[in-house]
Amino acid sequence: MKRVTIRVPATTANLGPGFDAFGCALNLYTDVTFEETEYGLEITGCDEEFTGPDNLAYVSYCAALATMSEELRGVKIHIESQIPICRGLGSSAALLVAGAMGANVLRGNKLSTQGLLNITNAMEGHPDNLAPAFYGGLTASMVDNGLPVTVSFPLHPDWEFLALVPDFNLSTPLARSVLPKEVSRADAIYNISHGAMVLKALELGDEKLLRTAMQDRLHQNYRKSLIQDYDAIAALVRTTGAAFCLSGAGPTLLCITQDEKLEEKLAKKLPAITKANWQMLPLHIEFQGAHVLRSEE
Ligand code: HSE
Repeated sequence: MKRVTIRVPATTANLGPGFDAFGCALNLYTDVTFEETEYGLEITGCDEEFTGPDNLAYVSYCAALATMSEELRGVKIHIESQIPICRGLGSSAALLVAGAMGANVLRGNKLSTQGLLNITNAMEGHPDNLAPAFYGGLTASMVDNGLPVTVSFPLHPDWEFLALVPDFNLSTPLARSVLPKEVSRADAIYNISHGAMVLKALELGDEKLLRTAMQDRLHQNYRKSLIQDYDAIAALVRTTGAAFCLSGAGPTLLCITQDEKLEEKLAKKLPAITKANWQMLPLHIEFQGAHVLRSEE
């Protein structure tokens, strides 16, 4: 039986004002191996609670087969993931992307990447993590007539990303439940204008512009009460000159800088302002999107 391993990068969504639209791929990976069998489902490499048919890689695998009108047979799925779970670094999106791509590769690549994005977006509800997971780099997406449309943006090569990953998790549904259903015109204008500037600042490598532009009025202020010591850490990062935002729905906090000493600077001061344990993960932009890592007959 054919076996295929799909590698998907981590992603950070929103990038401040680009709520549900902007995303960037980062160099942590989820590798998922799919091997077709005669019958049944076997999932290994993850906690017991994720080994059932509601596993996102399997749900997405099944959805892609259904879209191709392909018969669902048995499958063994093995997950090896470096992406922290439920921390705002795209662990769920990575499984969805891997599942759809795995099914597609095993059945002769009938679907395009756009087709796979359509399938996974229908499950996720917003394409901001999915798009960079498929395409790599920095992307902005919109959903028009129910279908995601994605464009890629250039990124200055000098950016360093420092993710502050706490020892507590935050579910995306909870982080979305605290958001208001309606926003004011002033807040909408604020985010549209700041969002455009974020994309330009990331392209130019303009840290000052990025720091100013990477502010938001649609989600971060509502979510920060769910994230221990958010304000204190934001204030500390601001003193270093780095740009700062929530990574996706959180709770990971993301600093974007060109200062190679940022980690050292924060490591000295962070323990004094927070009781939670924040792991500092220096990351780079990943320009390669999801792809076949290994394929064996
Ligand atoms: N844009 C999403 C949010 C990302 O902020 O809720 C997490 O899925």
